[in-house]
Amino acid sequence: MEVATVQSLLSQERVIKPPESFRQQANIRDPGIYDEAAADPAGFWARVAQQMVSWFRPWDKVLEYTPPSPGTQPPWIKWFIGGQLNACYNCVDRHTTTWRRTKAAIIWEGEPGDERVLTYQDLHRDVQKFANILKSFGVRKGDRVTIYMPMVPELAIAVLACARIGAVHSVVFGGFSAEALRDRILDSGSRLLITADGGWRRGNIVPLKRNADDALRECPDVTDVIVFHRGVLDATMVPMKEGRDHWWHRMMEKAPLDCPCEVMDSEDPLFILYTSGTTGKPKGQLHTTGGYLVGVTATHRWIFDIKDEDIYWCTADIGWVTGHSYIVYGPLSNGATVVMYEGAPDFPDRDRWWALIEKYRVNILYTTPTAIRTFMKWGESYPQRHDMSSLRLLGTVGEPINPEAWIWYYETIGGSRCPVVDTWWQTETGSILISPLPGITDLKPGSATRPFPGIFAEVVDEKGNPCPPGVQGYLVLTKPYPSMSRTIWGDPDRYVQTYWSRYPGWYFTGDAAVKDQDGYFWLLGRVDDVMNVSGHRISTMELESVLVEHPWVAEAAVIGRSDDVKGQVPVAFVTLREDAGEGGPKAVDELKQYVVRRIGAIARPADIFFTAELPKTRSGKIMRRLLRDIAEGRVLGDTTTLADPTVVQNLRQVYEERYGEGS
Ligand code: PRX
Repeated sequence: MEVATVQSLLSQERVIKPPESFRQQANIRDPGIYDEAAADPAGFWARVAQQMVSWFRPWDKVLEYTPPSPGTQPPWIKWFIGGQLNACYNCVDRHTTTWRRTKAAIIWEGEPGDERVLTYQDLHRDVQKFANILKSFGVRKGDRVTIYMPMVPELAIAVLACARIGAVHSVVFGGFSAEALRDRILDSGSRLLITADGGWRRGNIVPLKRNADDALRECPDVTDVIVFHRGVLDATMVPMKEGRDHWWHRMMEKAPLDCPCEVMDSEDPLFILYTSGTTGKPKGQLHTTGGYLVGVTATHRWIFDIKDEDIYWCTADIGWVTGHSYIVYGPLSNGATVVMYEGAPDFPDRDRWWALIEKYRVNILYTTPTAIRTFMKWGESYPQRHDMSSLRLLGTVGEPINPEAWIWYYETIGGSRCPVVDTWWQTETGSILISPLPGITDLKPGSATRPFPGIFAEVVDEKGNPCPPGVQGYLVLTKPYPSMSRTIWGDPDRYVQTYWSRYPGWYFTGDAAVKDQDGYFWLLGRVDDVMNVSGHRISTMELESVLVEHPWVAEAAVIGRSDDVKGQVPVAFVTLREDAGEGGPKAVDELKQYVVRRIGAIARPADIFFTAELPKTRSGKIMRRLLRDIAEGRVLGDTTTLADPTVVQNLRQVYEERYGEGS
């Protein structure tokens, strides 16, 4: 983003104060919390850890930290050393000894309209039984288990059962392809997969078991597959491999009821979650038990202002970090009631979400800017059909929210009475790092406001000097905090290289940001080759490396094009092999389908341009700036650094074919 755009963003600035009635009942009412945390960050986090999380054994030391640097090996970051706990105990067991045992933990609705409510006691029973099943397959502490499921309560049960016995879960989003699943199973070294016959999405079946079978053809180490019967297919229609595949419900019928929680060290791994980086290979972020749980419990309690009476709904899929932290671990650790919905927002009609809010009297809604912009496009008549007066707080995550969408969310969905918390964080950070505290922070639409107490962020220039107010720079985190990812699974050097080499001693987020004169942070998007499509991270490199594996493709470059609704969409520039022809609509379709098959629908290019040459600098670097100009219909910028000037002719031709001459 150009500085001029930053200025226009800041000049739209409007301040919205939380309503007095909200302030008075808020979980955090004293702004002194920021100074308290800044005076002694480790002491602050230790107090939070003590108050919010149940430990089997107290820690001996709060923090040991050596900033990761080239040539060094993990562990670099250890929180609550010597402390012992279990995440599942915190999310389930501790509530069953209080009145909450009969409280709804999960209120679930399937896309076709089927409903289930699980109390904390129900969860306790099912998680223990399922944990016993995992054990019966020989799963032990430290073993990895891959989970590939639709949004059903059993997904949460599977996650919690892993945590209970100390197995490291790796949840793979159900929208990913067989190949993406295979790569993640192989990288994590899982021996067991949990999946389902399928799931529902916009009235269609998501063929999870079929994808799993395809993936497993090349995963010889997976010896057992547990299949939950969601019922999208008749059980007799689901091919079950003798000796390898086992029905969830059959196993549950005979599983023993009691399964004690494994005692975990604070730094024992809790899960791996893959996220796209700047190379073709997804990175498995490794999160550990104590710090992660402290981070998600505290942020969920204070940012979402959660109360025992609340019905809370986070619309994410558990396959993404938002679902891990703010459907499963954070809310359940706080003993909250969580709404979980399986399907699409426009099934059977475009008011499904608002119908759910009215039906379950949802108080807190957490969603993405892309969803908000989609609803804006669909118009106000859909939310207006429903009584949404139960809402008292709104949240957004995943991508920058433009002030216009923020205001629409605030007014049309929140009736101008609900604070909006714009929460910035990443898969790597585990929990929210920059966000308002809704009872004390004056809100500015478009700004995620301030770092959470105990979090230290800065906007710096190339050299690491702090940028003055209003000047765009790079967002870095200058101090350790409990929920940070500890390493990349199997590739610690990449962890150092990606996050710690640019500014030694600081974590580089990969995001651009600007601070205003009040110290508020405005997030401006990625500065690396990562696209943010509907709040999902997709690496341009990963897409490029998939495209060039297609037999027709000689070379490919992918960029993220700005999109009014999705934030960004992938656009590919492809040079075909000579024997593959010119590249017409059929080739476009074929390549789009190929990407869907290889990665998943979220990575489908919105547009494909064919070009005889890609524009490169003399050192061979693709000039993505020029490609962006073409994709966004702008006149080509400076072309003087091109290695081969004739490429400009090609590009002009591509541009004119799309937008007409003289454009
Ligand atoms: O660019 C930032 C953007 O999403 C990236 C992290 O993506 P992921 O690991 O998939 O996690 C998404 C959910 C936490 C960040 O580097 N991002 C996330 N939240 C915001 C955001 N950008 C602006 N504002 C946000 N609130």
